[in-house]
Amino acid sequence: MKFFVDTADTKEIAELAETGLLDGVTTNPSLVHKAGRDFMEVTKEICDLVDGPVSAEVVALDHEGMMREAEVLRKIADNVCIKVPLTMDGLKSCKKLTGDGTMVNVTLCFSANQALLAAKAGATFVSPFVGRHDDNGFDGMQLIEDIRLIYDNYAFETQVLVASIRHPIHVLQSAKIGADVATMPPNVIRGLFKHVLTEKGIEGFLADWAKTGQSI
Ligand code: G3P
Repeated sequence: MKFFVDTADTKEIAELAETGLLDGVTTNPSLVHKAGRDFMEVTKEICDLVDGPVSAEVVALDHEGMMREAEVLRKIADNVCIKVPLTMDGLKSCKKLTGDGTMVNVTLCFSANQALLAAKAGATFVSPFVGRHDDNGFDGMQLIEDIRLIYDNYAFETQVLVASIRHPIHVLQSAKIGADVATMPPNVIRGLFKHVLTEKGIEGFLADWAKTGQSI
């Protein structure tokens, strides 16, 4: 399973990239706003920090506008992945862009039928938003299961990128279902490393090691 970080904070990205466990980055207009940086400049910087795909989202709603913006964004770096919304114009743009060899992440997916459309449009990634799904009384993980089943039924190559992840349990469930990618806020990635018994264990070992009076 690939790990992407869902942020436009370059300090966080740089720190997490140093672990060697980071496979890519996703951003969206809200995250760019939160970072308070120039979109083009911050996207370029992120693309230099990681080798994997960096999703940068278009804001136009019509096909021509999306294609125009995608043209600007894909010139930033080879690892830019154009993010388009799951609309008719978004999927039309997806089909055209992936046909030209550009990576596309179809975002704001909230149903298995929408995911089926994204796969038919040749999306590189589809982003079902599990957290927002849960927040609205739907079962986010059931959506991931349904998409996995449908994609496997037809051997679609579109990767299931679980987005809007809120906590480590979402990551665990996504991995059990066989999602291809989890994009997580930095705090969730950091949370994956933690276990109270690991910390307790280290404490105990270090206390006993000190008693040996030895050093390595
Ligand atoms: O990048 C898209 C997605 O991960 C947004 O998450 O927490 O705003 O629902 P959230």
